[in-house]
Order: sequence, then C-alpha cells, then structure tokens
Amino acid sequence: MSESYWEVRYRSRDMPWEKGSPSPGLVDFLNEHLDLARGTVCVPGCGTGHDVRAWASAGFEVYGYDIAPSAIRLAKTATSKAGLKARFARKDFLTGELGRRFLWVFEHTLFCAINPADRDRYVSALLRNIEPMGWYLAVFYLIPDEDGPPFGTTRDEICRRFSPHFDLKAEWVPRSYPNRTGLELMMWWQHRPGTAE
Ligand SMILES: C[S@@+](CC[C@H](N)C(=O)[O-])C[C@H]1O[C@@H](n2cnc3c(N)ncnc32)[C@H](O)[C@@H]1O
Repeated sequence: MSESYWEVRYRSRDMPWEKGSPSPGLVDFLNEHLDLARGTVCVPGCGTGHDVRAWASAGFEVYGYDIAPSAIRLAKTATSKAGLKARFARKDFLTGELGRRFLWVFEHTLFCAINPADRDRYVSALLRNIEPMGWYLAVFYLIPDEDGPPFGTTRDEICRRFSPHFDLKAEWVPRSYPNRTGLELMMWWQHRPGTAE
C-alpha cells in the first residue's frame, strides 16, 4: 500500500487500528522482563507512537518510523506532551535507509498492513536494520483475511519466513485489545548472524 493510501486514512481519521494505548502484549512483556538489555529499538509502522512511548517509558532509546507524514506528526506531538524522548522519522521501512542497526525491532501490525507480495522485502528490511544477534519481538495478527489491510497470515508462514534467519526464543498468546483477543501471537526471535538477506 502506498504512502498516499495511509496518509489519506490518517487525514480522514479512518484508523480503526488506533486504540489509544500500546499493544497490551508489549506492555506485559516489558513489565515481565525488567532486566532486558537496554539499547536501541526500531518500531517500523509506528503509527501515532503508542508502542514507541511504551519502550521509551521502560528506558530504551527508541526510533519510530512510518510511511505516513500525519502519523509521524501525531506521534511527535503525543510524545512531547507525554514528556518522553523518542525519535520519529517518515520512512518506508521496505526501501528506506534508517542509517543504523538496532538491538531490538518491534513489530506490531506492520507485517499485516503491507501487501503480502512485499513480505520478502519486509524480511530483507528487517535483516538490513537489526544488529547481529539482535532481538525481533513481534505481535503477529493471525487472521484469515486476504482482502486487507489487514492481510492475514499463519504461524506456518511466519516460521517459514523468519526461521532461516532467526532462532525462536519464545512464543505465546498475549493479552490483546478486546477485538483481537485470541487472534494475536507474540514471538521473540534472536537474529542468527551469518544468514544471507
Ligand atoms: C495498521 S497501522 C498500525 C500502526 C501502529 N503499529 C499501531 O498498531 O497503532 C499500519 C501502519 O504502518 C504504516 N506503514 C504502512 N506501510 C509502511 C511502510 N512500508 N513503511 C513504514 N510504515 C508503513 C502505516 O502508515 C500505518 O501507520
């Protein structure tokens, strides 16, 4: 989906993904793992930045990226209102140069937002932007829909795409927003260096 597709949705306030709070699964993960290695975090497709602010509140150095200029504007305003520090930039995660590698990449409803034909490019972008041995924490949306966004996926597809490059450290069904209960799968992967993009 193009930049203008997402920008129009923000401008017309047609944003049902906007829940006014971070992913419940991420909130629980951060509360349950207080001893995580602090470092840089990339949140691609960050929207208005709720997840970015959750990572920032937990003491991480966070960078939020989104293809839609309005999302970045809303994210910056809300973050400064909250008195938190995070950096935001308008970037296409699939093609953009982020200029650094990150210890953490956090996925939440970007994988299901892009066209499924772009999923190979998503994995390549992830590999370009994560540190060797870095962590990929994802909240995947396991729905059957083919007429997205959101576009569905399955656990099998996820494993086929990510296990050639990452080791699965843990997976679980997280606490979710009410209308997504039971439809999300969190996976915590560690990059395996030496695998080709
Ligand atoms: C379904 S929304 C989710 C936003 C946010 N993650 C949340 O859960 O509130 C998908 C977001 O991904 C952004 N997006 C779509 N394609 C993108 C791309 N190629 N690169 C970066 N952001 C993208 C959209 O602008 C939108 O903000």
